[in-house]
Order: sequence, then C-alpha cells, then structure tokens
Amino acid sequence: MLDLVIEGGEVVDGTGAPRRRADVGVRQGRIMHVGDLHGADAIERLDARGRMVAPGFIDVHTHDDRLLLDPAADVHPKLTQGVTTVVTGNCGVSLAPLRRSGAPPAPLDLLGEDRWTFDRFEDYLAALDDARPAVNAACLVGHSTLRVRHVADLTRAATAQEAAAMALDVAEALDAGAFGVSTGLYYPPASAATAEEVIAAAAPLRGTGGVMTMHLRDEGDHITAALREAFRIGAALGVETVISHHKLVGTANHGRSAQTLAMIEQAAAGQRVCLDCYPYDASSTMLLPGRMGQSREVRVTWSQAEPAAAGRSVFELARERGVSAEEMARRLQPAGAIYFAMSEEDVQRILQHPMTMVGSDGLAHDVRPHPRLWGTFPRVLGRYVRERGALALETAVHKMTGLSASRFGLKDRGRLAAGWAADLVVFDAGTVADGATFDEPQRPATGIDHVFVNGRLACRAGRTVDRHAGQVLRRERRS
Ligand code: ZN
Ligand code: CU
Repeated sequence: MLDLVIEGGEVVDGTGAPRRRADVGVRQGRIMHVGDLHGADAIERLDARGRMVAPGFIDVHTHDDRLLLDPAADVHPKLTQGVTTVVTGNCGVSLAPLRRSGAPPAPLDLLGEDRWTFDRFEDYLAALDDARPAVNAACLVGHSTLRVRHVADLTRAATAQEAAAMALDVAEALDAGAFGVSTGLYYPPASAATAEEVIAAAAPLRGTGGVMTMHLRDEGDHITAALREAFRIGAALGVETVISHHKLVGTANHGRSAQTLAMIEQAAAGQRVCLDCYPYDASSTMLLPGRMGQSREVRVTWSQAEPAAAGRSVFELARERGVSAEEMARRLQPAGAIYFAMSEEDVQRILQHPMTMVGSDGLAHDVRPHPRLWGTFPRVLGRYVRERGALALETAVHKMTGLSASRFGLKDRGRLAAGWAADLVVFDAGTVADGATFDEPQRPATGIDHVFVNGRLACRAGRTVDRHAGQVLRRERRS
C-alpha cells in the first residue's frame, strides 16, 4: 500500500533527461515506483495531468540559517517556489559557531542581530532538529563567522594560533555534519585574510568530500585575480570549489563572463569547480558607500538609521537632501541595499553554462528584500525557459536539482527515481512565474501547485500545509 500516487504528470527527473509521462508512488518519505501505477493501492491520489512533476528544488546559495529556526509562515518564501532543500551558511557567514550579545559586524548581521547563541556547530544542528524546519537543510560553516570568533584584530590576517583555532571549529562542524566551509573574502571581516589563512583554517576539509563555497574577493575589475585565488585555495585543499553567485559588476566589466566562464572551464580540467547564480541583473548585500559609482541604481533594503528609507533609491534620497550618494549611503548605516550593476547578457550567459546551478542568495531578514528571495526558481522556469527559450525545461530543472545534489554531496536528493527521497514539486510549465518584483518583493510565485518534502505535502497552491516536514541533512563521513 502506497501513501501517495501522483498520477499522469510529465516526470522531469532532475538528470536533464527528457520528460516522460509516468505516475510516481511514494511511501514513508521515499519514492517507491516511477511508471504505471494505474490500479495500485494508495491512501491518496493526486491528479497531475497537464503538470510537470520534478524533484524538489535545491537552493544552493542561501542565508536561511536563522529562518529555518523559526516556525514557517503561512506563505513561505522557499516552499512557494518549490524549494525543498536549502544550503545555508554561505558567503562566509554562518550562525554557528559564535556566541555573542548585540549585533555582530556586517555582513554577519544579515542573519539578524540576536540568536548568536551557538558555541558549537553541533548545537546549531541540534536546535534545527528541534525546530523541525519547513525544508531540508544542508549547512556550511562560515570563515567570516570563525574570524569574528577567533581573530583578535579583523584588519589583519590570522596568526598561526588563530588559524588553528578556526581549524578546530571547522573539524567540529564537519564532524557534526556540515557539508563544507564558505568564505566571503570580499567582506570587511575577511578581506584581510590571505589565501594561506583560508587554507590553514579549512584544512580539516581535506579528504572529507565537503565543499568550499566562495564569495570571491572581487566581482568587478579584479575578478580574474579573485578567480585564480579561489582555484588556488580549492586545489590546495583538494575540495570541490563552488564559485558563489557568479556575476560581473560595473559597466567596464560587462561582457566579461565569456572570459570568466572560460577560466572556470579551464580550471575544471584540473580540479573540481562549479558555480551558482541567480536570475537577476541586480545584486544585494550590505550598503557600501564605495559602490555608488559602479551602479545604475541603488535601493535600500533596510536601514537602522532611517528605517523609512527601506525601498527607496539612495540616489533619489541624496538629491532630496542635497548630498552626494556616498554621503547618503553613510548616513543610512548600518543598512543593506540592492545594486543594479550587472548586464543581462552576462546573467543569461552564466545561467546557461552547463556547470551553473541555481541559488537564490535571498536575504530573509531584510525589510524590503531583493525579489530573488521569493522569485528565483519560478523566474528561471518562467522567464528563461518559457519566455526566452534560453534553457530547456529539463536543463533548468537539472540546474536546480540533480546537478546541485551531486556537487554538494546531498545523497538521495535531487532526483526523481525509485529509492530517492520524496522531495517533489508539481508545477504548471505554462504558467509558472515569479511574482516578486523590486517594487513588490514579497509577492509569491504562481504556477507551483504542490510541494512535497520527505513525502509530506508541505505547500499547496502557495499556502503552507505542513511547516515541519524538513530534515536536517548531515554529510556522510567519507571513510
Ligand atoms: Zn555572497
Ligand atoms: Cu550570499
């Protein structure tokens, strides 16, 4: 007796293979059969005729560390997109291990000011277990978090002793089940770190099969040097290196994705490298006065100095006050922003590259977040697959499922086949679309009908049905 049969849909299995008409049988959180289940005994049957049935989407680049601890909302930013698994702790920023009171230095505060209460990574994973998150979680430990914890002076590289202390925490995190380490050498708490420091701190990664995700030191004029540094770190550790949210910032660099993608391909001939991106030509992070000059437009996502500025243009505010944009950005601190500084041509070229996975980089605690938080996955399927024909549907799904699971070492996820976890999304390829815009950033997606997490119906027509169907995933130790 099956728990569920999803009948008559077009199965897109996550491998990139062409869709095929098949029923999907689920029991106890697993996919039992894919084929003809006409007449099979099942507690529940779902008619999926005219719909796609795919593995639940994997959001490989998130900052959901804290979001996962909170009971899921009725309308959830990830479930409404068909996302069933998130990778947390990216860009060097993880919620654990770090214990402190008061706001941490930016950009750690993108995870919120409070709840910095986990002394060990294991304690965080245990709290996640207790919270029973809405989606599955694969967690990374952040190098910047470790720097804030161990490095006495963040304006210099770590001493050998400090690097050793970070390495102990990395080992603890990996033992607890972390999937790897993330770095954010671009950001102030880590910009003084050398490649040698990162290699020393992340040394326990060696031989574990864990990954290292990297927010590069530079995504503008110096991107080739930053890429070379990332490859060097990855090669020294012998790990899968994930170039996070690959992009080219600043008009002078537009079009250079042809060059950077060629560099990544070349590196991949000698080591394990891949990349992720989100389908927008605007980025979002802390508000940095130095970035006003390279952006067409800058919008405030939150500001502690002027909460009412959220959603407004920094340039417009500067004109109203008769100050420079840089000065305006300083007055809003601490704050976050959206930068319009990429070219659409690069975005599409990067998304189309066979090594590229999809990751939202959504910032769940922003007052007026970048729409990628709510729209990334449906936007790829609506805008890039259906409207532009830039990707085949099967290829797009692969970039959101099978490719991601294999690169991050997520066992039995990312594929719709017998024996695999029953993370499933049923969607309408004809209508799936992002609802979130820069003006209405929290509007949910449309066309995502049913989302199953570990075999349980978690979201139906955009409403959360089961807010605790997720599991904390733990990386299997390679013996
Ligand atoms: Zn980043
Ligand atoms: Cu990020």
